[in-house]
Amino acid sequence: MSKRILSCMQPTNRLQLGNYLGALRNWVNLQDEGDNECLYGVVDLHAITNGHDASALANATRETAAAYIAAGVDPRRSYIFAQSSVPEHAQLNWLFASMTQMGKLERMTQFKDKAGKNAERAGLGLFAYPVLMAADILVYKASHVPVGDDQKQHLELARDIASMFNEKYAGGEEFFPLPEPVITGPATRVMSLRDGTQKMSKSAESDMTRINLTDDADTIAKKFKKAKTDQGNVPSSEKEGEGRPEAMNLLGIYAALSDTPIEAVMNEYGGQQFSALKTALSDLAVAKLSPITIRMAELMSDPTEIDNILKAGAEKASSLAAPTLEDTMKMMGFWKA
Ligand code: TYM
Repeated sequence: MSKRILSCMQPTNRLQLGNYLGALRNWVNLQDEGDNECLYGVVDLHAITNGHDASALANATRETAAAYIAAGVDPRRSYIFAQSSVPEHAQLNWLFASMTQMGKLERMTQFKDKAGKNAERAGLGLFAYPVLMAADILVYKASHVPVGDDQKQHLELARDIASMFNEKYAGGEEFFPLPEPVITGPATRVMSLRDGTQKMSKSAESDMTRINLTDDADTIAKKFKKAKTDQGNVPSSEKEGEGRPEAMNLLGIYAALSDTPIEAVMNEYGGQQFSALKTALSDLAVAKLSPITIRMAELMSDPTEIDNILKAGAEKASSLAAPTLEDTMKMMGFWKA
């Protein structure tokens, strides 16, 4: 059966390895499998919720779209669009915001992490971020949402909002299908190269914590060489890896990039010094990422092509989103001429 796939990334800074292994790679697999209809958004409205640089936003949106395409999303088969060019997202967000209890949003771990100790000063947009995310998904009645592990809680809220709506306004019918999270592969949570308890993130202060999709071979090698490890050798079993998050992270990245089970990687490198694994990992990462980096640079040299792809994607996305918003408003009882 054909599925409707929807997923998005924020155009904040450069995409990093976690975005690729945790999400983007699965987007491409879902596009290539069967006759799924895939929509991949660049969520620029989300990107302004924690402060942003107005002079860089439009280009960051283009660059994120370029990364999708360079990684294998085919704009002739999948729709790539900027969230802000489909106003139905923000409109549906308002309708959902009115149905969502603040208590539910207060429990969101991403808000707590991002707002830090200064929750009182955080913007309303950051607080309401997961509601807009629910609108992104439900405005297309998406059936499947491929994301990294960190988005699980947000997906649960989207399902919760969908059921609430169905119960309250659709007499219990499934007007909004409950979206299924697709969280698969050995790297659903890639950790920082400097601290195995923190996830790799494009917004972390130090660039040494992550591999960016735009890093060159020397930078990749330097970052893996300096990656934190412990005093022991490479673990050769899950048991030996217990309590050693940095070691397990490197093994997980290797497994994901080489498409082999982590056990096989542990068989090969277990018992050796970390330097052997790190060298192999650098070579593998360069081999897998450099075609993406090169393609991204080519695409970015002709922004008109990306702009045209984003325009066509927005048109298609709007044509799907508009009827959902219209039906939703009707069911909620709004006046219409
Ligand atoms: P964002 O932009 O932070 O991340 C984009 C995708 O990358 C995944 N990811 C990771 N996966 C594994 N390891 C990591 N270290 C890692 N870091 C990031 C994320 O899980 C995500 O899938 N809220 C979303 C964007 C969003 C969205 C949506 C996603 C807005 N609306 C609708 C899906 C559907 C976010 O901040 O992603």
